[in-house]
Amino acid sequence: MTRIIAVANQKGGVGKTTTVLNLGHVLANAGKRVLMIDLDPQASLTMWMGSDPYRVERSSYSLLMYPEMSLSRVLRPQNSFLALIPGSVDLAAAAIRMVQEQYPLNHLRTVLRESRFTFDFVLIDTPPGLNVLTVAALVAADEVIVPVQCNHAAMLGVRAVQDMIRRIQTGMGNPDLNLRGVLPTFFDTESAYGARVLDEIRLLIAGQVFKTVIPYDVQVADAPHLGKTVVDYAPQSSVARAYRDAADEVLAG
Ligand SMILES: Nc1ncnc2c1ncn2[C@@H]1O[C@H](COP(=O)(O)OP(=O)(O)OP(=O)(O)O)[C@@H](O)[C@H]1O
Ligand SMILES: [Mg+2]
Repeated sequence: MTRIIAVANQKGGVGKTTTVLNLGHVLANAGKRVLMIDLDPQASLTMWMGSDPYRVERSSYSLLMYPEMSLSRVLRPQNSFLALIPGSVDLAAAAIRMVQEQYPLNHLRTVLRESRFTFDFVLIDTPPGLNVLTVAALVAADEVIVPVQCNHAAMLGVRAVQDMIRRIQTGMGNPDLNLRGVLPTFFDTESAYGARVLDEIRLLIAGQVFKTVIPYDVQVADAPHLGKTVVDYAPQSSVARAYRDAADEVLAG
């Protein structure tokens, strides 16, 4: 059975795209069939996968806007286990059209659930801010992972996503949407403050926080410029190990 996982947080720069990219690669390296979908007009995931979001012919935009669009027309295989549906800059226009024209927000859900492709995991990268693109991702998803930077504003993003999950469960046709977990990111092992924030997160949302903590590591930012993910570029680094541990937690259910 396919597990559709959206990675979301209204806060920007918390590691959403990095999480999709690295979890996607770790799961694919483990022999799982993985589809990554870029729903962010910034299209970092697409760029980090080596495509130019200004030149993408068919992107996730087509899936959102055209219900008859099939996955096979937008999907780009990366290797035997990993595929990407790229994002493009016109996703920003999609967001506006979807609101203006009162678009049904479940096209993505329908196309993913009715697809003849068999993926073990679909990982959806969402933009910062809780806008209509994030709603479309959450309507389509079974589970949500919320990356959270271990700093003072951490809980604000979590609360906003929790609130949105409740609304989508009750009013948008996806009652089974499940918060798979808050994933602490950018953890500074030398900061007592970071450790305090982490304790607070674990206390406030007990049972819904990954055991794994993703450490801060400059190699994460270097990797995409070398055309690699950190799990491939520096597999022995603590951050690569952490993403493998996080993937094990996801695999455990
Ligand atoms: N664990 C980490 N250690 C160091 N740098 C990181 C880490 N995780 C992500 N980064 C870097 O921080 C920046 C923001 O990360 P990323 O783009 O994944 O966040 P995001 O939540 O997707 O941002 P946005 O909200 O803009 O989409 C990137 O340059 C990324 O390479
Ligand atoms: Mg991002």
